[in-house]
Amino acid sequence: MDWDTVSFDHDAGITTITVDRPDRLNALNRPTLRALDEAIDEAAERDTRALVVTGAGDDAFVAGADIEQMRDLSVEEAQAYARLGHDVMNRIETFPAPVIAAVNGYAFGGGCELALAADLRIASERAVLGQTEIDLGIIPGWGGTQRLVRLVGDELARRLIFFGERVDAQDADQYGLVGDVVAHDQLDEFVQGMAEDLAEKPAFALQAAKEAINQSHRMDLEDGLQYEQRAWSGLFGTADQREGMTAFVEDRDPEFE
Ligand code: COA
Repeated sequence: MDWDTVSFDHDAGITTITVDRPDRLNALNRPTLRALDEAIDEAAERDTRALVVTGAGDDAFVAGADIEQMRDLSVEEAQAYARLGHDVMNRIETFPAPVIAAVNGYAFGGGCELALAADLRIASERAVLGQTEIDLGIIPGWGGTQRLVRLVGDELARRLIFFGERVDAQDADQYGLVGDVVAHDQLDEFVQGMAEDLAEKPAFALQAAKEAINQSHRMDLEDGLQYEQRAWSGLFGTADQREGMTAFVEDRDPEFE
């Protein structure tokens, strides 16, 4: 399944969606965002147990929203573009399986926001990330002001957004903006290994864990703890819970559905 600017691969429960506009450093114009949206639909319809999002070519993950396309937007058109971008980022955040951003190069503006919407971020040592919108006269508009704060904290998020700082992979790792940095030529293999490990875990429990963690950003502590209790006990209706605990008692490896 392929779109003009997004490619799609599904194998053994792992779906890889690649933003594929290398001549524009994978910048997200409207058709590419729509293709991304459809590709996420397709991934959800298949048995996706781990989703990898990355960029085509050797230079960029996603160099941001398409600046040329944005330049002449009216306020109303900008609202529609923001809505489209937010919809796609929200769909990644709420995708029913873990999403790994394989950050293989530049991840600026909307590209950084795409990485922020994922569950886990693994960077190539060549990656450079940043919410660079300030130097275009705007602010992050696809979730960056909200998700960056939650990931790296208020002080650092303000600094990165106010100065439009471009952060190399080592600093991104130190800031907690990415979870790991690996050699550029080992990124695919490393991420594939992670995705394979996730694909072997019990899917309902992973989804429940993701949803519960997401709720921690939306609820106060008391409601979040209530939410966790419901999610936890609900899993006792699944075959994977029975299998996981029976396998432990019988001293064997579990075979999840
Ligand atoms: N939107 C539209 N086109 C973009 C783009 C973007 N966000 N980022 C890069 N491109 C295009 C360039 O215009 C150029 O097109 P051209 O070959 O027709 O001139 C092509 O991609 C290659 O980029 P170039 O700038 O020549 O590569 P570089 O290696 O010298 O620099 C970057 C790479 C990423 C440092 C630089 O392109 C850049 O700063 N991009 C904008 C990043 C940004 O502000 N993103 C936030 C947007 S919200």
